[in-house]
Amino acid sequence: MSENKFDLVVIGAGPGGYVAAIRGAQLGMTVAIIEKRDTLGGTCLNVGCIPSKALLDSSEHFHQAKEKFGVHGIKVTGLKHDIKQMMKRKDDVVETTTKGIEYLMKKNNITVFHGAATFVANDTLDVAGKKKETVKGAHIIIATGSEVTPLPPVPLDGKRIISSDEAIALKEVPKKLIVIGGGVIGMEIGSVYGRLGAEVTVVEFMDRIIPTMDGDMSKQLQRSLKKLGFNFHLSTKVTGAKATNTKVTVTAENKKGEEVSLDADYVLVSIGRRPHTDKLGLDKIGIALDERGRVPVNGRFETSVPGVYAIGDVIPGPMLAHKASEDGVACVEFIAGQHPHLDYNMIPGVVYTWPEVASVGATEEQLKESGRQYKKGAFPFKASGRARASEESDGIVKILADAETDEMLGMHIIGPRAADMIAEGVLGLAYRASAEDIGILPHAHPTFSEAIKEAALDANGVALHI
Ligand code: FAD
Ligand code: NAI
Repeated sequence: MSENKFDLVVIGAGPGGYVAAIRGAQLGMTVAIIEKRDTLGGTCLNVGCIPSKALLDSSEHFHQAKEKFGVHGIKVTGLKHDIKQMMKRKDDVVETTTKGIEYLMKKNNITVFHGAATFVANDTLDVAGKKKETVKGAHIIIATGSEVTPLPPVPLDGKRIISSDEAIALKEVPKKLIVIGGGVIGMEIGSVYGRLGAEVTVVEFMDRIIPTMDGDMSKQLQRSLKKLGFNFHLSTKVTGAKATNTKVTVTAENKKGEEVSLDADYVLVSIGRRPHTDKLGLDKIGIALDERGRVPVNGRFETSVPGVYAIGDVIPGPMLAHKASEDGVACVEFIAGQHPHLDYNMIPGVVYTWPEVASVGATEEQLKESGRQYKKGAFPFKASGRARASEESDGIVKILADAETDEMLGMHIIGPRAADMIAEGVLGLAYRASAEDIGILPHAHPTFSEAIKEAALDANGVALHI
């Protein structure tokens, strides 16, 4: 068994871990990263963000060709989808992207160990890979991410009752798909198969889908997805599921206490993700998890054990790739004695449905609950020339600002390219822009982003095009 010593050792090569490793190398540290998967990139690149977005794009092209090309004067005959090719393209995208991380590790002289890491002392890890290694770090970052939260009445079998891991790799388009959990994964993966012809039924515990986002976004997204053919059972509690080789029956109880029985060929369980700390040996070094299984850290990402830090999905905060990366950079800069600043209120959240939903800052519900006085500006895409020209007029931009000071407190967009446009909201929040500041900025014409300017003007009652 060989022994290896580094300034910084990162456990987990997801967007939290690999970015932390690169930042460490940039700051002159000797760095190692340990990953138990064969490929780098974590959940996000292997089975999360990247493959799901590849399938979302492919399925949206198909859907556009089927439903919208005719209006543009484009006739398509014999249109068919080829799920095998769609999956192959997705796999190719994943392979290229994960290989890109291997390249970045080499470029930054980061030593990669493949195998599962376990703490044997505060500064020492055993790595169980093809060969056994011991790795020591003056600083060790836990970036072990998250895994699917199981739903006890509906145990996953990986065949008919599946998680996102299998849902991004189906060999056929389901005729009927039940989605348990109307959150981000359910709406995205449901959209992929809904666009390809599956009848999608969503069973959600709360009284609305994407319940953590602004209520107007939930309503509008539900409307758009209904148009796509989705059925919704809200305020409904799943009580069980039975699978055969070819189909599955889900039972649930609606808010009136009535039993609902639903049939499908697949059920996707997407009720959230939980931190992954299995076999890490945290008990051996005295790190106790919080009530939700997360690794507790302070504002500098330090755990209760000196020299051991944690970032990304395994700690509290939004479970998002860009949040994990920001954690990674900030954590390493703290280790290096710098003074980074990270505010989770600036972390945007996106749902890559079509229309897309993107949000940053406070929702209207949060402002109401906090008692803060606010004003609201909104602009519908149907009043946007660019949106009409593109045949993409579903959705709105909504801006919330302090009633007195006009400081922007939140931006919420449902509409075309919302995912990219929300960057303006992040910038506005970070620099404490007022709604007026955003409203007076020139926005190129014709663009979807003009809707942001108009919503900002509307917050002060001076929108020009509504
Ligand atoms: P992870 O990416 O989970 O990486 C952790 C890594 O640690 C894994 O590779 C794991 O194998 C490794 N590991 C665990 N334990 C050990 C051990 N003991 N030894 C060695 N290695 C270990 N987020 C977005 O921002 N945008 C999206 O579009 C998006 N889409 C998603 C779609 C899906 C279907 C899913 C499931 C998630 C999606 N997410 C998205 C969430 C995103 O993937 C996570 O927030 C992000 O990957 C968290 O990064 P991380 O580095 O904390 O952990
Ligand atoms: P989620 O937290 O987004 O949604 C889970 C949904 O399930 C919620 O609406 C919740 O009310 C519901 N639910 C919980 N228990 C239930 C039950 N017993 N029966 C019915 N419904 C129930 O979780 P999801 O979609 O699994 O995603 C996991 C994580 O991955 C999220 O934190 C998300 O941030 C991240 N992710 C991000 C993406 C993005 O940024 N575009 C894409 C996919 C995932």
